[in-house]
Amino acid sequence: MDQNNIIPRFSGNINVQIDDYILNHIDEEGELLASLNRDAHVNLLRPRMLSGHLQGRFLKMMARIHRPKKVLEIGTYTGYATLCLAEGLPDDGVIHTIEIDDELEDFIRKQFDKSSFKDKIHLHTGDALDIIPTLNESFDMVFLDADKRLYSQYYDLIFDKVNLNGVILADNTLWDGKVLNEPHPNDKQTIGILEFNKKIKQDTRIEKVILPLRDGLTIIYKIKNG
Ligand SMILES: C[S@@+](CC[C@H](N)C(=O)[O-])C[C@H]1O[C@@H](n2cnc3c(N)ncnc32)[C@H](O)[C@@H]1O
Repeated sequence: MDQNNIIPRFSGNINVQIDDYILNHIDEEGELLASLNRDAHVNLLRPRMLSGHLQGRFLKMMARIHRPKKVLEIGTYTGYATLCLAEGLPDDGVIHTIEIDDELEDFIRKQFDKSSFKDKIHLHTGDALDIIPTLNESFDMVFLDADKRLYSQYYDLIFDKVNLNGVILADNTLWDGKVLNEPHPNDKQTIGILEFNKKIKQDTRIEKVILPLRDGLTIIYKIKNG
């Protein structure tokens, strides 16, 4: 057996050092996102849900490379990833983002108002399952990052609204490594992610790759309609 398959590439503290090295050798996140991050840690529950420096720069880079005119984000939380994607959009690009928790709306709007990209951003407050069917738009890029139990449902709802050659990015698809084990029947989030990963693997209308970035990021490229 190939030793590389059974020995972790980095172990223990070196992972932290590698993470630091990466952050020291990529673009900075900028003052607005750094202060949003601090604000979230002081004022919100579960601040680790926000994309953060490395994934945020990755999302911006994806937008730079793919140049989407219309982006949809499912699961806004603080607006961190929304702002990163907005930063990478072409001049005529816009992003729609959906957040179910209306208590986050003030926090999110405060952050968007500070950004020079605020006019590119459309925030929808409500359940993505209700809002997506009302969006009379088609998208070049979708960032799927809401309730892990519903990933397959979101995917089915958005698929026809994604343009040919469009990209869907799905976050947390390695789910803290829990995808490797048989899930407890009550662990609906892990079950949701496992179902989603299986569905994506079997879908011949798309090309797909999973990156071990943060908690696992699946990149899906649409090659066929319906
Ligand atoms: C992981 S956080 C999003 C993080 C954000 N995309 C980022 O990268 O910075 C997930 C968010 O999805 C929201 N959410 C969960 N279910 C939802 C639904 N059905 N519709 C819209 N938002 C939902 C949660 O309230 C939470 O704020």
